[in-house]
Amino acid sequence: MEKLKGTRIEWVTESCALLSQISDEFRQTRPFEGLTIGTGIHLEPKTVALIMTLRAGGANVVASGNLSSTQPDSVEFLRSRGVIVHAEQTTDSARHTALLKKVLDQQPQLLLDNGGDLFSLYLESPYPGLLGGTEETTSGRMLLEPLREKLDMPILVINDSPIKQFGENRHAVGQSMFETYMRLTNRSTNGKRVTVFGYGPCGKGVANCFRNAFSVVTVCETDPVLRLEAHLDGFLTPSREEALASADVIVTETGAIGVVTERDLLLLKDGAILLNGGHFPTEIDFKGITRSSEVIARCDFENGALTSLKLNSRKSLTIATAGHMANLAGPRPLGNSIESMDFGFALQAKCLERVASGSATRQDCVVPVPRDIDKWVAGSYLASRTE
Ligand SMILES: NC(=O)c1ccc[n+]([C@@H]2O[C@H](COP(=O)([O-])OP(=O)(O)OC[C@H]3O[C@@H](n4cnc5c(N)ncnc54)[C@H](O)[C@@H]3O)[C@@H](O)[C@H]2O)c1
Repeated sequence: MEKLKGTRIEWVTESCALLSQISDEFRQTRPFEGLTIGTGIHLEPKTVALIMTLRAGGANVVASGNLSSTQPDSVEFLRSRGVIVHAEQTTDSARHTALLKKVLDQQPQLLLDNGGDLFSLYLESPYPGLLGGTEETTSGRMLLEPLREKLDMPILVINDSPIKQFGENRHAVGQSMFETYMRLTNRSTNGKRVTVFGYGPCGKGVANCFRNAFSVVTVCETDPVLRLEAHLDGFLTPSREEALASADVIVTETGAIGVVTERDLLLLKDGAILLNGGHFPTEIDFKGITRSSEVIARCDFENGALTSLKLNSRKSLTIATAGHMANLAGPRPLGNSIESMDFGFALQAKCLERVASGSATRQDCVVPVPRDIDKWVAGSYLASRTE
């Protein structure tokens, strides 16, 4: 028997059935021939599979990452395949912005954005020839929606596909945040009180995964309609104060700023563990909390994977990954499951093809994925599972 030593990038690439099918198709059709695509998305093995699919379609790719999530192996792999990469594993937003600007310096004709960074920087210093592109997340959509008039080009929002909503945000983020809690803390979930902030698709998934692991789950959601849904789904929905005070574990999944701040310190239960799963490191105010005069001691474990704080009140609390998206930070950050990212990245590849072909228009500025693309991705995945 021949014994080969495989890498994680190879394992991921082999597991992406949809991207592999699209790569075969793109090798024939070459939809991005002569075009440069600028990317600003987490650089990890699954995005490597996406970027290599775009390359199969003839694209030059100039890539950057997102704050805190860049994986050196992925950068090295991409560079070895001729992709220009401007990315570092940094948590410094000024440095991150400088790297994104380097992507825009290449004047790509298409942008693949994640969090709205690239499109908003483009507006600060526009260049000729940008055809449009895609935005991956809820947070990015929220940032770009008010800029529609200025952008005035096709930008398809992957997050607003029902497949992304249920396939990644609901099912995969829930599993991944749950796996992250177990991996970083090595603590149990049984009988623990878990409070989830936000009951959008991500919050729903997190709440269900912890419930399935025998935790008692509370949902804290500002929208009364979704709060009702959480109640009907069997979750506790008390006041915010009660939700904070009762929690052994707190997970934020809102896309909002300052969901848990220094002002909440006196409310928190002794030993509470806080994790953020939202895109920006603003949901748990890590800086404000760690600099609070209430904090009398701090201990960082494993390079900041966990930060424990001792308070004046003698209570303690622990924050995961300094408030950065916990499932893509810390030791061995696997992120969401390969299958779920294969859905989302198949939508990405097909949407970029649509924009490159010129058949998406200026009216399609910050709009959901076209329905026919959703149907193609869903049908192709099901076909790959039943063959
Ligand atoms: N970790 C990951 O791998 C991953 C993957 C996909 C999306 N995300 C991010 O997760 C976040 C949530 O995504 P979503 O699709 O569920 O978003 P969503 O907008 O559908 O849901 C967020 C919910 O939070 C609620 N909310 C806002 N502020 C709140 C507050 N202060 N307290 C309680 N509830 C509040 C909103 O009413 C909304 O219902 C976003 O930042 C998104 O970018 C993370």
